[in-house]
Amino acid sequence: MPAHAVRPSLPAMDTNPTYQGIELDAETALALLEWQVEMGADEPVLDAPVDRFELANRPRPATPAPAPLADLPIQSTPQTSRAGPDPADDLAVRIAEAEALAAAADNLGALAAAQEGFDGLELKKGARNFCFADGKPGSRVLILGEAPGDEEDRQGRPFVGRAGQLLDRMFDAIGLSRAAVDAEQALYIVNVLAWRPPGNRDPNADEISVSMPFVRRHIELAAPDVIVLMGNIPCQAALGRRGILRLRGQWAQAFGRPALPMTHPAYLLRNPPAKREAWADLLSLSARLETLSV
Ligand code: URA
Repeated sequence: MPAHAVRPSLPAMDTNPTYQGIELDAETALALLEWQVEMGADEPVLDAPVDRFELANRPRPATPAPAPLADLPIQSTPQTSRAGPDPADDLAVRIAEAEALAAAADNLGALAAAQEGFDGLELKKGARNFCFADGKPGSRVLILGEAPGDEEDRQGRPFVGRAGQLLDRMFDAIGLSRAAVDAEQALYIVNVLAWRPPGNRDPNADEISVSMPFVRRHIELAAPDVIVLMGNIPCQAALGRRGILRLRGQWAQAFGRPALPMTHPAYLLRNPPAKREAWADLLSLSARLETLSV
């Protein structure tokens, strides 16, 4: 109790409380109670303490043996028990709708409009802005990231937060920039998800599946020479594999093009020593672009 607080007057009691058989006057009992509260005991549960060590040693009452299966009454499944559509069917319907919309888009503007208007992803309801892409379509390098974070959600552009600033410095170091006008030096940046997942959680498998028709069409229309898979989620989406620390630096094929998994800049911000390997991956990307040009 703070020094300035007025202690409540104690109600008159016919008998004094006892603690472990010892009779206490009311003042002492209250002081003990306050001490317990200060120690963190904030919930009175029982009048008497329970010795849980002693309880653990007591023999357990025998549990009745389960009835043999044959003796159990057979319960028929009521035909009316299904509340709402089967989630698997619903997912298939949403993916089919995304496929149809994406296939119908014959340019990036049409694709952006179709994807933004699509209501098959709950994430859309919680996001502030649609994050379609940034940089120059037609660039030789397309970076496929994970999902918008807080800053991306505010600005409606991928990779504009702290991780995005590091990403810009990394690619600048090999002469590539999202601000470049020449497709040789430019970058195009897309995320697997165009809407921010709440609290920056990882997108789940259904959200990825529903987004993929748009991502595939996006890559077809942007037509890069190579793709950088930035982090685990794009590797899961494009290669069906996670484990970026094993995958990074190993060229693969994704969306019919050479694809290089790299550790995400957010990971590099948390683990600066991993920048050495990221640098090796950037050099590998640069070398690959050289070979593809000849
Ligand atoms: N991380 C990503 O993968 N994408 C963004 O747009 C921002 C952070």
